Amino acid sequence: MSTKKGPVLVLFVCLGNHCRSPMAQAVLRHKAELAGLSHRVVADSAGTSSYHIGEPPHSGTRKILSRNGISWDGIVGRKITGDDFEAYDYIIGMDEENIKDLNAIAGAEHRDKIVLLSQFVAGAQWTAVPDPWYTGNYALTYQLIDQGCSAIVDQVQRRESCCEG
Ligand code: 4NP
Repeated sequence: MSTKKGPVLVLFVCLGNHCRSPMAQAVLRHKAELAGLSHRVVADSAGTSSYHIGEPPHSGTRKILSRNGISWDGIVGRKITGDDFEAYDYIIGMDEENIKDLNAIAGAEHRDKIVLLSQFVAGAQWTAVPDPWYTGNYALTYQLIDQGCSAIVDQVQRRESCCEG
């Protein structure tokens, strides 16, 4: 993880910015708050498509977040922009299609920021976060996003205790 000053800026990306990436944004924000690391990690999300611009997260995403006591306050669908590749430290895709789409629009100098969520999880038994828009299984999606976001918070925490005064 980067050792630059300031918070780690994380942008989660999926196709619609409607189910998975807003869920990940809300979960990481919540976990960072619980860990007292809100000042060290900032979560945002975007879609590779414009399908759900201006909309709140899907009702399935909202439901599972509520069930877990997690707020989606202020999260609104948007499409990724060129500036996002400049602004964020990590551009985290949910599946290989997202990674392919992101690599196609990113400049070569930003491609190393583009990673799968599963890459944060040591020994992960999964690669992609399945899309509940198609599977209907919001519980499985939540479970994997929960694992991924815990791993991100652990990394930030380790960096905090190892490298910062
Ligand atoms: P997401 O799921 O990429 O996890 O937000 C989808 C949401 C909407 C659509 C596709 C995927 N759609 O085709 O509208």
